[in-house]
Amino acid sequence: MGRYKGILLAGGSGSRMYPLTQVMSKQLLAVYDKPMIYYPLATLMLFGIREILIISTPRDIPHMEQLFGNGERLGLQLSYKVQSHPNGIAEAFILGADFIGDDNVCLILGDNIFYMGDQLNDFSEIISPNAGAVICGYHVPDPEKYGVIEFAENDKVLSIEEKPKLPKSNFAVVGIYFYTSDVVQKAKKLSPSARGELEITDLNNEYLKENRMNVLRMRRGSAWIDAGTPDGLMDAAQFVQLIEKRQGLKISCIEEIALHRGFIDMEQFTNLIVSCKDGSDYKKYLEKIMHEKNFNV
Ligand code: G1P
Repeated sequence: MGRYKGILLAGGSGSRMYPLTQVMSKQLLAVYDKPMIYYPLATLMLFGIREILIISTPRDIPHMEQLFGNGERLGLQLSYKVQSHPNGIAEAFILGADFIGDDNVCLILGDNIFYMGDQLNDFSEIISPNAGAVICGYHVPDPEKYGVIEFAENDKVLSIEEKPKLPKSNFAVVGIYFYTSDVVQKAKKLSPSARGELEITDLNNEYLKENRMNVLRMRRGSAWIDAGTPDGLMDAAQFVQLIEKRQGLKISCIEEIALHRGFIDMEQFTNLIVSCKDGSDYKKYLEKIMHEKNFNV
């Protein structure tokens, strides 16, 4: 996998989550033991992405900055950009044009929770700086709620449709997308859809037309949860709780990932522990990582 920058889109109007989102965005709500935004941030970190732009609403950006600062403590370079109106996912590339520059970019949606295990390696194989676009399909029972991928028998992509009434498959487009830097130019040419948004599906169709669209299917047993609805939020929390309790290992613990990926050393990790609130299970977990051998499983 070549060099990719990351964009974490944590905007939106929060309409599907009202009244939960009256005073803060859904990405700051709890998914079991940590704020939702930790999960997509952790996913980018697991891909080795360290230069990340967080895009959110004028109201919520200050809270996100309070959570992560410039990212240095985690061995990251974080910057922030305001999306003043929920103009759609593809607007992220217009807002992030200067940040992207000539680099490849991975976009992750702030309400998407991934639990991929070994499948991370599949991505590394398919993603290359010349790949054009790489998106990912996940088998779901309710594809009409998402972007839907239609496959030919040879696994080639035939079509990608946004929330079709009659879905052509059960494969939903998940909220992690990899593009070459020409994505900025393509995004600038898009027109708003019927729901008034610059659609990521329209952007993906541009790559499909050029025969530069690659799709990876997430394997059976891996988890993808859209936590952007009350049910999705509950499912995500219960999923994380179950796995964490059973294994005694946390999902999307950003401090642990920073240590194990070599973004920070043990001294920096110790400083992170010091800054955690005493008495929290989260702090106890980080202390355990420091003392226990063979924790990196
Ligand atoms: C968006 C995309 C859709 C994708 C989904 C994944 O939907 O438009 O293609 O499948 O995210 O979470 P939205 O959440 O904007 O309705």
